[in-house]
Amino acid sequence: MKGLLLSGGRGTRLRPITYTSAKQLVPVANTPILFYGIADMVAAGITEIGVIVGETADEIVAAVGDGSAFGARVTYLHQPEPLGLAHCVVVARDFLGDDEFVMYLGDNMLQQGLGEFLAAGDAAAADGAGRPAAAILLSEVDDPQRFGVARLDADGRVVELVEKPEHPPSNLALVGVYRFAPVVHDAVAAIAPSARGELEITDAIDWLIERGHRVHAEVLDGWWLDTGKKDPLLEANRRVLDTLVARVDGSVDGDSILDGAVVVEEGAEVVASELRGPVVVGRGARIVESVVGPYVAVGEGCRIASSEVDHSVLLEGTQLLGVLRLTDSLVGRNTVVRRVADRVAGTRLMVGDDCEVELD
Ligand code: TTP
Repeated sequence: MKGLLLSGGRGTRLRPITYTSAKQLVPVANTPILFYGIADMVAAGITEIGVIVGETADEIVAAVGDGSAFGARVTYLHQPEPLGLAHCVVVARDFLGDDEFVMYLGDNMLQQGLGEFLAAGDAAAADGAGRPAAAILLSEVDDPQRFGVARLDADGRVVELVEKPEHPPSNLALVGVYRFAPVVHDAVAAIAPSARGELEITDAIDWLIERGHRVHAEVLDGWWLDTGKKDPLLEANRRVLDTLVARVDGSVDGDSILDGAVVVEEGAEVVASELRGPVVVGRGARIVESVVGPYVAVGEGCRIASSEVDHSVLLEGTQLLGVLRLTDSLVGRNTVVRRVADRVAGTRLMVGDDCEVELD
């Protein structure tokens, strides 16, 4: 079994962060999203992993390397343009050979590991009804119009998949993890681009179903998040921080209070501050006379002084200076947010393109 991890794409929904970096490397609880997918694969015994890369290839390669840090062997597969999820399978044809594989969207996060999904697929293959050509994971959602959606028959078999349907046939959305037998290569070669110009994986799976191949579906128990937008990313941050185990490797002075699960990494410094867990403070960060948390990931080298922040992700090198209360925010690298007056006498901004600033 091989792994195919998708880390190309445009990332338009996470601009402006994605103008300067790959969305799969945006940190959740101070660890790049992509690393969770790699760890899931390795934990399930999949160590030979192809990583699809696009424009942000250099950055992904610098972060993941040859995969040995994760116990994996990584091969980079360059996709010249983000032409769709099924196009990634076309790009990976030689790497995948005739092996079964798990395809994992690099910006997705699952609570449960891949082990159960793979075991369920194996069990389905052994039930006498023939080996499935594909196995998909489904999750009940409130807004199926935003996702690929599955229609199942009375026996729970997948009858059809529809991409972002106006009138969804169910509330079962496709989670970004799939298992394929090599016959999927025939499917991705046969389908045509959709109206949005992409080779859709849902069309490839429909192609398999229409030709009588079996597609097995599992409904996910735990949470699943597609972190390609700010709010789900912050939710993923909350979910992962909920599992944090307190640890202090940096320095915390006697005037500070740490409450709940707080991690202070090596070289980080907390002075006269209150940290309300769960909170993670990255290496070399400095927090002075501030209240931080709950649910904050402070990136490496950040500086927070005379400020309050909760439910937020601060990327490395960011500074909050005199900020009364920052909440539900994602702040890119080396950004300075500073309060310069007690009264709001005017707001001065220097922000990049496609930013969103909400003022109270
Ligand atoms: P998406 O989030 O569906 O697409 P995107 O990254 O282009 O983002 P946006 O819609 O905001 O512009 O992609 C899911 C994952 O698959 C993500 O990690 C990027 C990756 N991907 C590729 O590697 N190649 C592709 O051709 C596409 C469409 C996505």
